[in-house]
Amino acid sequence: CGIVAYIGPKDATTFLLEGLQRLEYRGYDSAGVAVAGKAGTLKVCKVKGRVADLAAAVPANFFSKQRGKGSTGIGHTRWATHGVPSDANAHPHTDTSGRIAVVHNGIIENADELRARLLADGAVFTSETDTEVLGHLIAAHAVEGTELEDAVRAALGHVVGTYGIAVLDAAQPDRIVVARNGSPIVLGLGEKEMFVASDVAALVRYTRQVVHLEDGELATVRADGFRTFTEDARTVTRQPSTVDWEIASYDTAGYEHFLLKEIHEQPAAVERTLSGRLDERFATAHLGGLNLDARELREIRRVKILGCGSAYYAGEMGAQLIEELARIPAHSEPASEFRYRNPVIEADTLYVAVSQSGETYDTLAAVQEIKRKGGRVLGVVNTVGSAIARECDGGIYLHAGPEISVASTKAFTSTVIAFALLALHFGRINDLSPADGRRIVAGLKALPGQIREVLGQEAEIAKLAAEYAGSAGMMFIGRVRGYPVAREGAQKLKEISYVHAEAYPASELKHGPLALISPELPTVALVPDDELLDKNLTTLGEIKARSGRVLAIGHRAPEAKLADHAILVPKSEPELDPLLLNIPLQLLAYYAAVALERDVDKPRNLAKSVTVE
Ligand code: G6P
Repeated sequence: CGIVAYIGPKDATTFLLEGLQRLEYRGYDSAGVAVAGKAGTLKVCKVKGRVADLAAAVPANFFSKQRGKGSTGIGHTRWATHGVPSDANAHPHTDTSGRIAVVHNGIIENADELRARLLADGAVFTSETDTEVLGHLIAAHAVEGTELEDAVRAALGHVVGTYGIAVLDAAQPDRIVVARNGSPIVLGLGEKEMFVASDVAALVRYTRQVVHLEDGELATVRADGFRTFTEDARTVTRQPSTVDWEIASYDTAGYEHFLLKEIHEQPAAVERTLSGRLDERFATAHLGGLNLDARELREIRRVKILGCGSAYYAGEMGAQLIEELARIPAHSEPASEFRYRNPVIEADTLYVAVSQSGETYDTLAAVQEIKRKGGRVLGVVNTVGSAIARECDGGIYLHAGPEISVASTKAFTSTVIAFALLALHFGRINDLSPADGRRIVAGLKALPGQIREVLGQEAEIAKLAAEYAGSAGMMFIGRVRGYPVAREGAQKLKEISYVHAEAYPASELKHGPLALISPELPTVALVPDDELLDKNLTTLGEIKARSGRVLAIGHRAPEAKLADHAILVPKSEPELDPLLLNIPLQLLAYYAAVALERDVDKPRNLAKSVTVE
C-alpha cells in the first residue's frame, strides 16, 4: 500500500494524485484522498480500482483551499488485506462525525477488540477494514481543545500492530500528524510546503530533502516545518538527508513497461553492485559494510539465507555460491516460513536477510526473531536506510537503483552478484585458491557485457515467448546450479503472465512429474555446458520420448532430437552461469505476458512490497 500527504500553499489534490500514481506499484486495488474543506469539514473521495479511476472520480470542485491557510490532504493506494477491494474499504477512513481522516499501511492486530469497544460507545462503522478503528479511536481522544498530536499519541497507546499512518483533522487543517511503527513514513521538505509519503518514489519530483521516521516516532507536519517526537511525547531532533536516486529511475524512459526497462538496466545495475568491491591484486572482494572481521568470519560454520519470493530464490543461488566458493554449508529458506517455526538460532551461523525493498514484513520479522535470540544478521538490501537494513548488524547494499515493476529483475540479479562477492570474500579467507579467486573476479567483471549480449537476442526470445505463451502450463527444470534458475524462471512466468508454471529439479522429473509431460506442457530446460551436461541431456531425451516439447537454455544447442528450440547465452565461470541463464527467462516471461496482454508492471492480486503478515 502507499501513503501520501501534502500541506502547503498549493492545491493538495494535484500532488496527492500524482504521488499516488508513483506509489501505485505498491498496491492498486483501490485508492482515495481526503482534503480539508471549508469551515472545519473534510472532503473524501475514494474508489475501487486504479489511481486513474480515482482521478476521474474526483469532482472538479475538489480543491482544498482552507480560508487562506493553504491546502492540506492525505491519500492512499491499497493492496487489500482486511476486506475485499471496494469503495467502502478504500482509505482514507473517517470517524462517525467525518472530522478525522486516516490513511494506514500495516495491520492493527487488536482491531476486533477496539471495534467492539468503539461500537459500544456509539461509533458507526462503514467498512470491514482494521484501519477504520483508528479514525474512531483518534476522534474519541480528540475532544475540544486537544492538539491532534496528543489525540493520535493517546489513540496509538491502545493499538497493537504495525502501522504507518497519516491523520488529518478538519478542525486543525494547518497540520498533518504521522506515525510509524513497522511501516515506513518519509517526510519531504519543500519551500514553505511539506510532503509525506510511505516511499521516496512519491517525493523525488518535488524535493530531495527527506527525513525517515524511526519506529515508535510521530511527527506533526506543518507547511513551514515539522517536529518529530516519541510515543511518550519526547521531542527528537532529526536531520534531513538527501535522496540520491535519479528521478529518471521513476520513469519508463521510453520503454513500454518498467519491467522491460529494468531488464535492460541490468548491465548498469551489476556494474554498480560491483563498483569498488573487486580486488584484482588479492583476488578477493571488499565489502565495507559487513561489520565482521576475518577472524569472526572464519568462526562461521553455516550460512542461513532468508527472503520472500524472488529474494528467496536469489538466496538459493547465493547459498550455492557460498557452498561452492567458501565451502561452508549454506541454505536459503522463505523468511515467511522460518519466522513461524521457532527456529534454532546458532551462534556460529551467519544469517543473511535478502530484500529489495527492505520492508517485507515477513523478512523483517525473521530478522527480529534472530536478533531476539542472539543471532547475527547481515542484510542484502537495495533500499538504503530501509527497516530491514537498519535492523541488521551489517550488510551489502545492492545499489541497483529503484525497482518499480512488481516482478523483480535487476534487484534479483544484483542480489546474486552481492552473494558472489560475499562468497568470494568468504572463500578467500578460508581456502579458495588465488587462481580460483582471480577466475571469479574476471568472471564477475565480464558479466555486464555478457548480459548485454543476451539482451541483444530480445527479438528472437520475444518470438519464442509468443509461441509458448498459449500453453496450458510450463515445466521449468534445472539441475543443482540450474534449479534455482528454474524456480525463478517459473515464478516470473506465473506472476506476470498467469500461465501456470512448475519448477522441478531435473533429477527428480522421473520420480513423478514426468507423468505430466505431453505436447501441451512444454519444458524450459536449463542445460549449461558444465560437469552435469550429460545428465541434463539424458533428461531431455526422457522428455522427448514422451512427446514433450523442449526449449533449452544453455551454451550449446542440443541435437534437434533433444530440443525443439534453444536460446544460447555466453559462457561465464560455471559458478556464475546461473546469472546469465536467468536473463532469457526474464525476457521469456515478459514477452509471454505481453503476448497475453497482461498488466505487466502490476499483475493481478500482487504488490511490490508486502508490508503485512
Ligand atoms: C513481493 C513481490 C515479489 C518480491 C517479494 C519480496 O511478494 O511481489 O516480487 O520478490 O515481495 O520483496 P523484497 O522487497 O523483500 O525483495
